[in-house]
Amino acid sequence: MAAINFKKITNLYFLKVINNMKKLQQAFLVALVSLFFLISCNNNPTTEQSMKKCSQTSWGTADNKPVYLFTLTNSKGDIVKISNYGGTVTSWLTADKNGKIADVVVGFDSLSGYLAKPPYFGSTIGRYGNRIAKGIFSIDTATYHLATNNGANHLHGGNKGFDKVVWDVVPTPDSLASLTLHYLSVDGEEGYPGNLDVTVVFTLSDDNTLSFDYSATTDKTTPVNLTNHSYFNLTGDITQTILNHRLQVHADKFTPVDTGLITTGVLQDVKETPFDFLQPHAIGERIASVPGGYDHNFVLNRTTADNELVATVTDAVSGRVLEVFTTEPGMQFYTGNFLDGTIKTSQGIAIQQHTALCLETQHFPDSPNKLAFPTTLLKPGEKYHTVTAYKVSVASVK
Ligand code: GLA
Repeated sequence: MAAINFKKITNLYFLKVINNMKKLQQAFLVALVSLFFLISCNNNPTTEQSMKKCSQTSWGTADNKPVYLFTLTNSKGDIVKISNYGGTVTSWLTADKNGKIADVVVGFDSLSGYLAKPPYFGSTIGRYGNRIAKGIFSIDTATYHLATNNGANHLHGGNKGFDKVVWDVVPTPDSLASLTLHYLSVDGEEGYPGNLDVTVVFTLSDDNTLSFDYSATTDKTTPVNLTNHSYFNLTGDITQTILNHRLQVHADKFTPVDTGLITTGVLQDVKETPFDFLQPHAIGERIASVPGGYDHNFVLNRTTADNELVATVTDAVSGRVLEVFTTEPGMQFYTGNFLDGTIKTSQGIAIQQHTALCLETQHFPDSPNKLAFPTTLLKPGEKYHTVTAYKVSVASVK
């Protein structure tokens, strides 16, 4: 009996020790996680500026949620501002060939500019970037009806796409020029099937590359086509048009559209058309022969699955060069055709037609209805993952 009691006591003693060790371990883990949150970009706006590559300020509220403006800074002194409202790039300050700093993207200084629903300035676009004809598509035997917000068609995710929602901020150490945003798009949102869990990581690297790393998962098969809708003007002066910018696109083909800007399903050769940018051309050179201006998807000449260089824009006056890299098969080239001076910058300057251009890397428009196009369907158990990067540099451009 005595031996059994002794054994029991010994066991109890060891159990207690193990329990205490577990508690210690838990306390250590809690302390570690708290430390991580303390040093994260979004939780510690007052850490020493010198160490900090990401800082945060409050920017108001939308949908009763706090909105922030994050500032990413690299060693070259480039500054990129991004808001968790719409996952929006609001500003990119970068030097020209004379070292003069200016903003090369169109954006506003305050949230109110974005709440007025501008045409996707700098936004993250989803669930489906570009148009879906009549907002209708089918998967197997089910037909889905999406919000129609562009005439009879669905554009850029519908009435309240990812550009108009407040994204959750995922803590990231503020020693990194990086911001991670998360959004759960619920089943049925804007008519799309399935809960889509989306994460976008924005990173500004020291070679002046702003990269977008998109990932998503779903619990029902759904189309997904995420992109960024930054409007660039490499002069840094919104009173200038982009018609003298020179563009090169590595694309032998493009996807022609009908009068409602819906792809016909044809992949047309760019040869002997104003869409031939295989060699650099001034954007304004042939724009008059493109009714309405350029607003077309290019079928990129891809050779690998990597993040490849697909387009280059140069501006001789500022010397700035913009290179576009992507893992995507397509890129919408849009010359700000619908800008008509009604929207003003925060400084009160009217934003006129062709004063900015977009290079929206993506899958082809209306893919859910064009079954010969690369599929945009994401199935449960699969992971959506694409990468796009914009790199700004300075060269003596002739
Ligand atoms: C995309 C579309 C354009 C236009 C803009 C926003 O680039 O292709 O037709 O809708 O967005 O105005």
